[in-house]
Amino acid sequence: MKAAVLRAIGQPLQIEEVQLDRPGPREVRIRTVAAGVCHSDIHPQEGTQKFPLPTVLGHESAGIVEEVGTAVDYVKPGDAVVTCLSVFCGYCEYCLTGRPAICRKVETRRRRDQPPRISQNGETMHQFLDLSSFAEELLVHEHALVKIREDMPLDKAALLGCGVTTGLGSVFNTAGVEPGTTVAVIGCGGVGLATIQGAVIAGAGRIVAIDRIPSKLELAKAMGATDLVNAAEGDPVRQVRDLIRGGVHYSFEAIGLKETVEQAFDMLGRGGVATIIGLIPMGVRVEIDGEQLVYEKKLQGSNMGSNRFRIDLPRYADLYLAGKLKLDELISREIALEQINDAFDALRQGEVARQIIRFKQ
Ligand SMILES: NC(=O)c1ccc[n+]([C@@H]2O[C@H](COP(=O)([O-])OP(=O)(O)OC[C@H]3O[C@@H](n4cnc5c(N)ncnc54)[C@H](O)[C@@H]3O)[C@@H](O)[C@H]2O)c1
Ligand SMILES: [Zn+2]
Ligand SMILES: [Zn+2]
Repeated sequence: MKAAVLRAIGQPLQIEEVQLDRPGPREVRIRTVAAGVCHSDIHPQEGTQKFPLPTVLGHESAGIVEEVGTAVDYVKPGDAVVTCLSVFCGYCEYCLTGRPAICRKVETRRRRDQPPRISQNGETMHQFLDLSSFAEELLVHEHALVKIREDMPLDKAALLGCGVTTGLGSVFNTAGVEPGTTVAVIGCGGVGLATIQGAVIAGAGRIVAIDRIPSKLELAKAMGATDLVNAAEGDPVRQVRDLIRGGVHYSFEAIGLKETVEQAFDMLGRGGVATIIGLIPMGVRVEIDGEQLVYEKKLQGSNMGSNRFRIDLPRYADLYLAGKLKLDELISREIALEQINDAFDALRQGEVARQIIRFKQ
């Protein structure tokens, strides 16, 4: 089968033939129908996050089950599923205390003495985030997927696999935004736009969207942002404080830069909570004004929207099909697997929200 392979930092992806092993007892083979391109796919190529190479990138996908291992009874061939990198073991401290998004992943990966899930003529292809979605098929642990209702279009469903769940979950699960409160979202890419929608659904009173690209701010408005701040037109903290006197109750950072993380903290009012979604490059330290902590301001991270994805994703599909969650508007364009490098360039420039790879069926 064809897959997009990253062989070295700084190199373009290459479309190559790779092979999947047969499913182990608790594994599932999936035919990929659609895969979204998330900024987290770009970090290993830029070397800002370290992953073993060569790897097949991609981690936001939906497809149809083709084959299941002998111990799998949750799904059967023909079922429609969405994958999620928040594979849960069900045994560890985090799973058992209701925080499966930060699971230690006991026994959900193949051991070193077992053959790899993905290979190329005997050479190991490392699996990216336990998924590797930029490929015609996936071989994953059964706890890396959720069944999805049959009337849910799979290209929209793919978006639930990372970006949308991360954005919505950061609002509902990590921050717990209450109705009527004020929210600021820094970065209006696929993840930030989903965060804005989460704030709308949670009933936030004011939602300030911050980006440097006017077309992204327009999209944010279409998602329900009440106020727009162009970060290229002056200090965004000042601009937000001019709009909302005293600062916001909740801020979200969906880019992954030291500067914008610090802005997220600086725009909080007393008792406010800054939730950092963006992935900060290795080794970068973040500075805050320590004196402000006396006002009970909080800075916290969010991993994949603190999801419980087998519960959350079907609910999000229901919201979409009830017209309460905008997913069509998040898709800037559809591409073929062969256009992946072009898609990475477009994402880097910031003009697109989500791009979806459609696999030939
Ligand atoms: N925590 C998690 O579990 C998790 C999950 C998914 C993605 N992420 C991370 O979230 C981040 C966002 O992902 P995405 O796919 O939405 O990315 P994206 O590239 O689609 O969006 C980033 C947006 O930020 C804007 N931007 C860039 N620099 C800016 C600045 N200085 N000020 C204001 N706006 C600026 C860009 O114009 C763009 O609209 C990435 O770091 C990604 O790796 C984290
Ligand atoms: Zn992602
Ligand atoms: Zn666990």
